[in-house]
Amino acid sequence: MTKAVLGIIGGSGLYDLPGLQNVREERIESPWGLPSAALRIGDIDGLPIVFMSRHDKGHRLSPSDINYRANIDVMKRAGVTDLISLSACGSFKEELPPGTFVLVDQFVDRTFGRASSFFGTGCVAHVSMAHPVSPRLRMRIAEAADAEGISAVRDGTYVCMEGPQFSTLAESLTYKNLGYSVIGMTNLPEAKLAREAELCYATVAMVTDYDCWHPDHDAVTVQDIIRVLMANADKAAKLVARLAKDFPREHEPCPIGSDRALDTAIITAPEA
Ligand code: ADE
Repeated sequence: MTKAVLGIIGGSGLYDLPGLQNVREERIESPWGLPSAALRIGDIDGLPIVFMSRHDKGHRLSPSDINYRANIDVMKRAGVTDLISLSACGSFKEELPPGTFVLVDQFVDRTFGRASSFFGTGCVAHVSMAHPVSPRLRMRIAEAADAEGISAVRDGTYVCMEGPQFSTLAESLTYKNLGYSVIGMTNLPEAKLAREAELCYATVAMVTDYDCWHPDHDAVTVQDIIRVLMANADKAAKLVARLAKDFPREHEPCPIGSDRALDTAIITAPEA
């Protein structure tokens, strides 16, 4: 029997997790270097929860400078079985206005130069990323959102850009025309590394803006984003509290095998 432990990575505006009880801060060492922040380990309704602020307090780290490998590694070492990224994003759809939560089920990678694998020369593994999000975790989040009266769209494609600058108009229109739902700068490295670390993973993409394609929202500004973020942060805390209350206390095998991803992925011969 494996105990379920919920990991939460909080993005812009989420530097803490209100409602987390019996909190202790722990700095876990990683061979991959320094994680973004100390872990805040506690529980909600008895469910163990490990929280990390992705950008650290005061938003000190840019998306390109985050040590994603160390972050996922320390979550794994802390016993996390299910990992949720709570992240601000821009929207490409009129029907996904600021304030909407999107439970994305697909990702597109537009980052470059990020270290987003634990594997390399010496030990080569190719995990499947066909279905990057654990469907049962996503469903549990959807149910928690319903129970709290939070508007959460069940699916969508998240394009992960390098940043830190926002998109040009041509890029924004291209992504919109390709049918993508939302854009952010951080979640795909986390999804890839979570899969390699055999964690169930899901993203709650919290819309803060319409990016720049929208005729009434000519440009994205940090001020606009922060205003929406404040309201989103309260809703996110309520969502996690509800999820924790209803979450099974024992880890259940992932229906798509996220928690067994390496069984079929390592190609290097053991004696090599
Ligand atoms: N995060 C929040 N809004 C964003 C946008 N429009 N583009 C990229 N990342 C974002």
